[in-house]
Amino acid sequence: MPESRSLQGIWSSPWIFIFAASGSAVGLGNIWRFPYLLGENGGGAFLFVYCACLLLVGLPILMAEVALGRTVRSNPIDTVNDLSERRLIHSAWVLVPWLAGVTGFLILTFYSVIAGWSMAYVERAVSGQFVRISESGAQSMYDALLSSPGEMLLWHTLFMLLVVVVVGQSVTRGLAALVRILLPVLIVVLLMLAGFALYKGNAWEAVQFLFRWSWQDITLKVVTAAIGQALFSLSVGMGAMFAYGAYMSKRMSIASACSTVALIDLAVSLLAGLIIFPLAFAFHINVQSGPSLTFVSLPIIFGSLPAGREVGGFFFLLLTITALTSAISMLELFVAWLHEKYYIARMKAALLLGFLVWLVGIAVLLSFNHWDSKLLYHLNFFEILDKLTSQILLPLGAMLLSVLVAWFLPRSVLQNEMVAKKSMCFQWWYCTLKYVSIPVLVLVTFAGWIGV
Ligand code: PHE
Repeated sequence: MPESRSLQGIWSSPWIFIFAASGSAVGLGNIWRFPYLLGENGGGAFLFVYCACLLLVGLPILMAEVALGRTVRSNPIDTVNDLSERRLIHSAWVLVPWLAGVTGFLILTFYSVIAGWSMAYVERAVSGQFVRISESGAQSMYDALLSSPGEMLLWHTLFMLLVVVVVGQSVTRGLAALVRILLPVLIVVLLMLAGFALYKGNAWEAVQFLFRWSWQDITLKVVTAAIGQALFSLSVGMGAMFAYGAYMSKRMSIASACSTVALIDLAVSLLAGLIIFPLAFAFHINVQSGPSLTFVSLPIIFGSLPAGREVGGFFFLLLTITALTSAISMLELFVAWLHEKYYIARMKAALLLGFLVWLVGIAVLLSFNHWDSKLLYHLNFFEILDKLTSQILLPLGAMLLSVLVAWFLPRSVLQNEMVAKKSMCFQWWYCTLKYVSIPVLVLVTFAGWIGV
């Protein structure tokens, strides 16, 4: 059977799309980035704004991205080219998928370094370094990793090699099947860890921190961080979901599939919060400590668990694999395009792009030690990339994509694509995208420029 036909067959089950898209969405964004942003931005207020952003910005744009991918069933660049050839849109719109590709490329340069930390922690857990570790011990272990660029380079290189090999083989093969097993296992492990952390740690303070908020806590900084995180966590604004939409069966409801992905993504982030904050409060870890929060808190829980070595090693291995399934979707856009447009072998394209990501990643890992100089507005290279991608490029990409879908694509094409059983559902989506998501993103991108 030719590959394309067999892939259509594979992807026609609704759950396969949900697993593949969740594979992209669930990753370091949920377990590493979400908790530290929550800590830095005041807890409850951030969580409230984040949920609102998921519903009013993230979900409608996710649906738009998937719908656009399914309309043409090609890679994002060719999709836009195709629409412009059919005179549905202007050819200048091709800049949007390019921007998306560049954003994915830039995110991967630091994502791979952080995934490397997770790999390093597998080794530390298995070799028993977590056993009865104290808060200061966990902090020193983290500091020691960050001050050894050689070790970080090793893990970063290994992770990028894995990404290149998987993307080079063809992204769809086996990905959904892997996530189908991985995701339930991850959720069960997180549930057990959350139970343990709530029991052992300071559950009361954590729950108050997570769920109590007042209106004056909602500042512009909180809103821009929450929107950036909503887009980052759902993998929207850079064409990753586009590709999965292209493989989605026509009979399937985009609304229910995308809502399920968003719910799974939110559940994983919340569970991560319910693990980290009870521990942080019990062990007096500063919740505003930034990127170190997850990597300092988690060893403590594994250090006090009966089979901590095994559970800790297994957890960080799971985290590394979820990071891999997300990382793949960042490189896929350019690789698919180079392959389909210029007939460059997938492996060659993946190697070339992977090498460039790896090079920039070296600058990122050096920014945690030898090159910690503040380059721009008190931010080092890693912080610049993080803020630039999540607070400017992702909102900008998401906004342009939404404008394209909501204002330029004929409504009939969309209505057809949405196959919504109830027209109410289509109306809700269309109006939210047009009158809420887009204006909010315009403001946020603008604020992002000023803020960063
Ligand atoms: N959503 C992924 C995560 O939460 C990261 C990601 C961002 C993946 C953008 C693809 C595109 O870890």
